[in-house]
Amino acid sequence: MRPFLKWAGGKYRLVERIKTHLPSGTRLLEPFAGSCALSLNTDYEAYWINDVNTDLINLYQTLQREGVAFIEFCSRFFTPETNTPQKYYEFREQFNRETDIYYKSALFVYLNRHGYNGLARYNAAGEFNVPFGRYLKPYFPEKEMRFFLAKFKDAQFTSMDFEVVIDQARPGDLIYCDPPYEPLSATSNFTSYSAGGFDQTQQERLAQAALRAAVRGIPVLISNHRTDFIMDIYQKARIETFPVRRSISCDGANRNQVEEILALFKLGRF
Ligand SMILES: C[S@@+](CC[C@H](N)C(=O)[O-])C[C@H]1O[C@@H](n2cnc3c(N)ncnc32)[C@H](O)[C@@H]1O
Repeated sequence: MRPFLKWAGGKYRLVERIKTHLPSGTRLLEPFAGSCALSLNTDYEAYWINDVNTDLINLYQTLQREGVAFIEFCSRFFTPETNTPQKYYEFREQFNRETDIYYKSALFVYLNRHGYNGLARYNAAGEFNVPFGRYLKPYFPEKEMRFFLAKFKDAQFTSMDFEVVIDQARPGDLIYCDPPYEPLSATSNFTSYSAGGFDQTQQERLAQAALRAAVRGIPVLISNHRTDFIMDIYQKARIETFPVRRSISCDGANRNQVEEILALFKLGRF
């Protein structure tokens, strides 16, 4: 099942490949969950879904708590009258001022489907600033939201830094990490899912946390780009490399094949 949100770097198309590398365990932790493409398409006893984007996690928690009534409420924002630039920018401004989580979460679903490319980009002040997407008839993902609700009725949702989640994992858990990519060039800087970026220091911090978890007997699988820097900091992992076509990109020049890796940090590999 597809996630109900569009998400930059979403892994829906790679789910089957990732699953062949997932180690066994009873609870799946996704510290960089985004749209939850992988978790939605697996079958573990329990899930811990985390993302630093609090708007995203507030939405997931609202859906989990309020159920079908919330899905119905979200659907009311999907009409021909709301699919105009005027209405979009009005809702976007409202979203940035809104303090009621229920209403704000419904607006997040609206913005995700009516905004450009489904991006969730914020300015330095933390304001959502994605322009209008100009879609003919934005799709309301009712069946995808219902699936999410049923799948994650007992899931744990948090919005914290990934390192806190990884360090709290316990034996029996397995962790899948899909961090923002290291920018391939200074201009391919479309990974600001939230205020603050994900630079090499963060990538290094992740590799260290993965290693610590693996030493405690908790396997960690990480998706990333194959760059010299990443290969250097993943020396202790088992790596699979494969070519992949990127779908979200600001310019045509970046729509070429970029090698991706899956890196497994697991006891017995060191
Ligand atoms: C490549 S996306 C994940 C996509 C996801 N696998 C999917 O299929 O939709 C990376 C995610 O990491 C989150 N993120 C960025 N920095 C983070 C941090 N320090 N801790 C936790 N999550 C973070 C972003 O908000 C974003 O949703």
